[in-house]
Order: sequence, then C-alpha cells, then structure tokens
Amino acid sequence: MSNTQMPGHSRAGKQCNSAAERNKEPILRVLKKHIAPPRETRDGPSALCLEISSGSGQHVVHFARHFPHVLWQPSEYDARQFGSIAAYVQESGLANVLPPIRVDVCDDFFRWGGDGRFKEDSVDFVVNINMMHISPFACTQGLFRNCGKILKPGGILFTYGPYSINGEITPASNVKFNAMLRRENPEWGLRDVQKDIIPLALKNNLSLVEVIDMPANNKVLVWKKNETS
Ligand SMILES: C[S@@+](CC[C@H](N)C(=O)[O-])C[C@H]1O[C@@H](n2cnc3c(N)ncnc32)[C@H](O)[C@@H]1O
Repeated sequence: MSNTQMPGHSRAGKQCNSAAERNKEPILRVLKKHIAPPRETRDGPSALCLEISSGSGQHVVHFARHFPHVLWQPSEYDARQFGSIAAYVQESGLANVLPPIRVDVCDDFFRWGGDGRFKEDSVDFVVNINMMHISPFACTQGLFRNCGKILKPGGILFTYGPYSINGEITPASNVKFNAMLRRENPEWGLRDVQKDIIPLALKNNLSLVEVIDMPANNKVLVWKKNETS
C-alpha cells in the first residue's frame, strides 16, 4: 500500500484517506456522465449502486449526496473498516446509503451480505476504487465474474486505479509504485487492461466502453454489461 493510500487521521471512528479525499470529486465527475440525473419525483431511489471495497466510506457518502435517486450499498472485505463506513454514513444523515455489508469479491455474489440479497440482473451500477492492484488477481477475476452476473443488462461497472496499458506501465512513478506493490506482496500489482482485464470482461459478458485519464496517473475504466448474452 502506498503512503498516499494509508489511512490518515481518525475522528469518531472515521478514517480519513487523503487519496480518497483528492480523487472523490474527479471520480464523481465521471459518474455524472454515466448515471442519469434525478428526475423530478418524490419516489424513493430508483436504482442500486454497490460499492465493492468501500475502504473508509469517504467515497460512498460523497457520491450518494449527488445521486439521491440511487440507493448506495457500501461493502468491505476488511471488517475493521465497517466502523469508519458506518460513521461516515451516520454523519451524512443520508437516507439513500445502506449500512456496510461484508463482501469478499472472490466469493459468489449470492453469499455477499450473508442473506442472499443479490440476484442475477439486479444491480444498476458497481463502483470499485483502488482494489485491483492492491489485491491478488483472483479479486479482479471475482469482480468481473460476479459483475457479469449481478449487473442488469446495460448496467455499468466503474473501476478506478492505475493500470498497465498494452503491457506498458507509464510514467516512471507508476513503474516504481508497481515494483513497490510487488515487493509488498508478489500477488499485487498493476493489471494490464488489454492482457489481463479485457479478456476477463469478454468472458463475463462485459465490454469496455470508455477509458478516462484521471489525475495522478490513474484512470477510470467504464465497463458495460451487454444487453444480450
Ligand atoms: C487501497 S484499499 C482501497 C479502499 C477504497 N476503495 C479507497 O479507494 O480508499 C484496497 C481495498 O481492497 C479491498 N479488498 C482486498 N481484498 C478484497 C476482497 N477479497 N474482496 C473485496 N475487497 C477486497 C480491501 O479491503 C481494501 O478496502
């Protein structure tokens, strides 16, 4: 884990991750391109967004505030993060964010949350930030295998992080970051969009529809579940 991704100060259980604080607004701008704005309605949320690996919970409350017509479901693998996520949700006072649930992305989706709440073709959006390179490749495989199932046809998976492109990592700072990750854990490291991820997406009925350059040499990849299988 890089220094910029280490949890920072904590208040009332809230972890404050400085990288999340910096990237939440640029990521929100990408989400706004793909998630339609709320219609004039008094109805409750009309779409569901699952965040996988919510970390501190900073992202999910920021996004939920801007999409009141979407119900946000934070999730974590690391149970030690639940307190922070819950503290952000509680402080926000938002009605459209659910309490965090435990999700091991390698596990099958029907076990997520422990109560069979996820069904095939039931989720509109999935957001996954800074997980692929800081977890074994089995997590990337689990992400695509499960998103291929739970997303509705036309549903979108947003992934954010640094990536290798056509077998090449740029710039030098990302090369160093990748080497550091691999020293920390040989199963971690930047995933290659063409060699590692697109084949997984194709196998799981998802297509890469947009690649957006982000600050600090990161990207958002926008994956759409095909309308017909
Ligand atoms: C660098 S943190 C990113 C957290 C947060 N998304 C952010 O950007 O601040 C990496 C995340 O990957 C998650 N992770 C690792 N293994 C996982 C697994 N098997 N299933 C789901 N998430 C996992 C960790 O729990 C952690 O939240």
